[in-house]
Amino acid sequence: MNRRRFVQRLTTGSAVVWVSGGDAVGEDPGAAAPIAPHPLPAAKPQLVTTPLVLQAPRVDGCDAVWGVGEMGRGRVEWEATSGETGVAAIDNFGFVPQGSRFLRVRVRGLRSGEQYRMRSVTTVVDGSRSETSDWKTFRTLDVSAGESTFAVWNDTHINDETIRRLDEVTPAADFLIWNGDTCNDWHREDLLLPTLLNPGGRDITRERPMMVVCGNHDVRGIHAFRMPDLVAYPEGRPFFAFRSGPVAAVCLHTGEDKPDSHPSFGGRVAFDTLRMEQTRWLESALARPEIAQAPYRVVFCHIPLRWLDESLPDYANSGFDRYSRRSRDAWHDHLVKWKAQIVISGHTHRAAYLAATEAFPYGQLVGGGPSPKAATWIMGHANPARLQFVMRKLDGTVEQEISLAPLS
Ligand SMILES: [Fe+2]
Ligand SMILES: [Fe+2]
Repeated sequence: MNRRRFVQRLTTGSAVVWVSGGDAVGEDPGAAAPIAPHPLPAAKPQLVTTPLVLQAPRVDGCDAVWGVGEMGRGRVEWEATSGETGVAAIDNFGFVPQGSRFLRVRVRGLRSGEQYRMRSVTTVVDGSRSETSDWKTFRTLDVSAGESTFAVWNDTHINDETIRRLDEVTPAADFLIWNGDTCNDWHREDLLLPTLLNPGGRDITRERPMMVVCGNHDVRGIHAFRMPDLVAYPEGRPFFAFRSGPVAAVCLHTGEDKPDSHPSFGGRVAFDTLRMEQTRWLESALARPEIAQAPYRVVFCHIPLRWLDESLPDYANSGFDRYSRRSRDAWHDHLVKWKAQIVISGHTHRAAYLAATEAFPYGQLVGGGPSPKAATWIMGHANPARLQFVMRKLDGTVEQEISLAPLS
């Protein structure tokens, strides 16, 4: 299988042949009546429909999710560079992972900072057919590593050209933060699987396992509540904290860009409650030793906590939040106490950097928009001397370069 591009194969059930004038096969049903349809042999549904997507990397494993075209069960086989091997094949309730649209396996028990390779094995429900994926490399997170490298994408909004080019230019990394607005809205359930597991027809978690941070468009549409089926989080909630080498990362869900009561949400969202829950969670998460004492402290959230123009939007007349005042009010004091150095966001579709000030002692870096011209990608690299962020456009132009000194 092509390692870069996962080509969808077409399935065909039957075909009707139209004959016009006795010698030509046409497409205009008005020109001739169909004659004896010739049913083609019913093709079996494609068993595996997406690449193996590695998500929520942790010190002891990750979650593997992939699409399937029919009812089946799955397992993940792994091999360590040390030669150790294993199989992950159980869900939280004692079942072998199974499903008819996707399979999801939590891989546990790996060693921190070690390189592995993994592959999925998918078997149809009656056991008559199996498909094994290519091997995929994966490195567990390492709290004690001297360095960390990570990538950030934002606001891809199903722009396939942008996703393809982002995938081409972004190098291997310890983790990839997909920082919100993966879609426009989930008005159709069948958008979820290709958008999240095979975006732009690419295998985006090859050599960079991903962490998805929710954006406001990711929570729109009547099927948005199904997104957590396909997106894995280290702690099972859409807010989490982790350590990679000298970097502590806190990922937060800024919710929507209008009040929960806005009529466009149709009573489907409760983000004020989620923000307050994250406030309480921050108190304990930021006190965890590996987070509290990290040399570098970074926040990832889709909607910025600061913006160039902080005037109040007119929500009744198409206004929306460029920055999340509600989130900032809820989290600012905790982030300042923790000594957060920088907040990485998207949402405005306008790349910008707001340096730290006395009132806001964390910088605010904001990535660009969904079109190839506006898109940006950010590489972060931390070593004992400094944490450096380089934000580039797709043509390689450097948009921002920021360097932070270690705190401890
Ligand atoms: Fe966006
Ligand atoms: Fe957004």
